[in-house]
Amino acid sequence: MRIIVKENYDEMSKAATNIVAGQLYIKPDSILGLATGSTPEGLYKNLVKVHETVGLDFSKVVTFNLDEYYNLPRENPQSYHYFMNEHLFSKVNINLENTYIPDGMTEDLDIECKNYDDLIEKMGNIDLQILGIGQNAHIGFNEPDIKFEATTHLVKLDDETIEANSRFFTSKKEVPEYAISMGIKNIMLAKKIILLASGENKAEAIYKTVLGSVRPDAPASILQLHRDVVIILDKDAAKLLPENLIEK
Ligand code: F6R
Repeated sequence: MRIIVKENYDEMSKAATNIVAGQLYIKPDSILGLATGSTPEGLYKNLVKVHETVGLDFSKVVTFNLDEYYNLPRENPQSYHYFMNEHLFSKVNINLENTYIPDGMTEDLDIECKNYDDLIEKMGNIDLQILGIGQNAHIGFNEPDIKFEATTHLVKLDDETIEANSRFFTSKKEVPEYAISMGIKNIMLAKKIILLASGENKAEAIYKTVLGSVRPDAPASILQLHRDVVIILDKDAAKLLPENLIEK
């Protein structure tokens, strides 16, 4: 694991932008794994800027999102379909037919999940996976005690996750209880992974990810077993990590 610590959220987002933009310059038909939530907003904003200013090309890029709420229509402003359109897809020259997000309104969950897994595999797996992390160390919506061999599946969200995500909804009651998420196995098959975290409320999860035992009760700890992970943090999220682990 490489651990990079930046002064603040903007610097963290810039460091992530360089990695993603670099990936697209080297391989314009990259398959990106995308996260939603507050953490990658700065990254997406910067990628739009790089597209506008120096023409970063998304025309051949394929994307797979980590997750989507179950039973929330894609037109709902809190859906991850909506989020991705708003923050990235509508602002760059990506072909929408190459963007995949689990269908939270599916009538056949088993088929939806299997098709998602099959498509990722058929495309040759993800080149660069972008991750955020929950305060309980979830990645995607793989909540504590997930099976590490899990592929795309329906997840019951933890109360802590519902609480944390209620900030996007008018009340906690409106947060869906379930989501469809890529599994740990899909994530671990990505060739390269970057995980971003900012803020003190992520410090404990980051400590467990980097220095805890690799155990399903801290899902992100599995990343210790991946050969190409870059963790990009701001100072607050890094505050429990010893200095000697941080890249100079
Ligand atoms: C979202 C996702 C989640 C978030 C995590 C952190 O697609 O997969 O794992 O990355 O819940 O969310 P934020 O960034 O809002 O703190």
